[in-house]
Amino acid sequence: MGYLLGIDVGTSGVRALLCDENGQVVATATTEHPSSSPKPLWSEQNPEDWWEGACDSVGRALGEAGIIGDEVSGIGLTGQMHGLVMLDENHEVIRPAILWNDQRTAAECRQITETLGRERLIELVCNPALTGFTAPKILWVRNNEPANYEKCRKVLLPKDYLRFRLSGDFATEVSDASGMLLLDIRERDWSEEMLEALEIDRDLLADCYESPEVSAQVSGAAAEQIGIPAGTPIVGGGGDQAAGAVGNGIVRTGVISATMGTSGVVFAFSDEVATDPQGRLHTFCHAVPGKWHVMGVVLSAGGSLQWYRNELAEMERAEAEKRGVDPYEILTAEAADAVPGAEGLLFLPYLTGERTPHANPNARGALVGITPRHGKSEVIRSIMEGITFAMRDSLEIMRWLGVEIEQIRLSGGGARSEFWRQMQADIYGQPVCTINATEGPAYGAALLAGVGTGTWDSVPEACDAAIAVTGENQVNEESKRLYDDLYPVFQQLYRSLERDFDTITRKVEQLYE
Ligand code: XUL
Repeated sequence: MGYLLGIDVGTSGVRALLCDENGQVVATATTEHPSSSPKPLWSEQNPEDWWEGACDSVGRALGEAGIIGDEVSGIGLTGQMHGLVMLDENHEVIRPAILWNDQRTAAECRQITETLGRERLIELVCNPALTGFTAPKILWVRNNEPANYEKCRKVLLPKDYLRFRLSGDFATEVSDASGMLLLDIRERDWSEEMLEALEIDRDLLADCYESPEVSAQVSGAAAEQIGIPAGTPIVGGGGDQAAGAVGNGIVRTGVISATMGTSGVVFAFSDEVATDPQGRLHTFCHAVPGKWHVMGVVLSAGGSLQWYRNELAEMERAEAEKRGVDPYEILTAEAADAVPGAEGLLFLPYLTGERTPHANPNARGALVGITPRHGKSEVIRSIMEGITFAMRDSLEIMRWLGVEIEQIRLSGGGARSEFWRQMQADIYGQPVCTINATEGPAYGAALLAGVGTGTWDSVPEACDAAIAVTGENQVNEESKRLYDDLYPVFQQLYRSLERDFDTITRKVEQLYE
């Protein structure tokens, strides 16, 4: 039997996952990598770390599974979307990668919108110019680091940089390419009109494939480093959200997912190209050939709780280490001591600005309504509730657009605890499901590899074979009523603070000028 390998270049680490041809996961390994924020709103990583992390994780996953590289029949790649990797004529990395949660490109977004006009832009690429997307980052380098731009011969997304290191080839696929703002989403190919209008040379971009298509093969040089033989096929793969959706079985109308990683994403499958006229949801190609999806993105979902864990939960981290448990388990137990609504404490999770629904790089986190009665439990609970309210924003836009929502599947950190699953059912106002597959993007990438190398005939067939619903949380009507009352307050708080966020950001920027 052959094994399928999924590699996910995540924001916090590179994860390798091996599954057999029944879709059974046999091993996983993750290697963490750092991010840096050299200035406010900036977020960068070193692509070399991804390659080293991939070699390390793949080696450990093979070891854990007790198999050798020759038994791997196909590789699927996935990763954080939108990141900009620039290579020079010797294929060396020119500058650190600028990541999806970097917010430096507000001026370039204005430049793109003015050049094309908002309406034409949405007609061409189905989305407005948002600071996280790749095209504004390319323009930022051209406007601010012209010497780096001059040197640039190739622009790659994070997982496609890994493909280059694995194979020497420059290739991408439609789901991740959708987030560059340069792809004609309807035609599933680069938009000549966009490239011309932004004066971006087509040769800078990689060739674009469908997600399960074989796009490259492991090279002799890479084989030695990563322990997978030369010639092993590498399929297109997918952006982490599309590949994650495959890993959650979101391949039919009516089934949607709510995933909390660093970002939080509500994702719905679509048979046709559906766009939000206000541009709050993203409309991208799905990793299912000939299909699309809409999604709302909360930039700091798990990221908000991670911030609390790292900066304010020293005691819980020490306790977790002593007891050999995950610090989030302790934080969740503390949150459960507070009542729903955290006695009027509300949290806005906009630590790295926000995309859906506000599209505002200057938005900031806020904890509002503190009284002496509030302690740690209320603070942690309000953070979790604030993240979940922000996810509900995306769900409400989908409901308003008429997207069918028959089943909500949970994945990522928010699916792991019973406490957070119940909170999601109560805040979304609909039952939520868990599934047997909990690996998300790396698993979806492995399934895509299976489709591309002949284990399954299609992506839905792979999902049907491997993924099943395992549980459901029903809505607690009393908590739902309370959350329905608080939700408009949560929404209003952002509007009340919006102008202050701009002022604060300007003042902080002045300090770094
Ligand atoms: C999706 C997005 C994030 C990143 C990181 O549009 O920006 O989900 O892909 O996970």
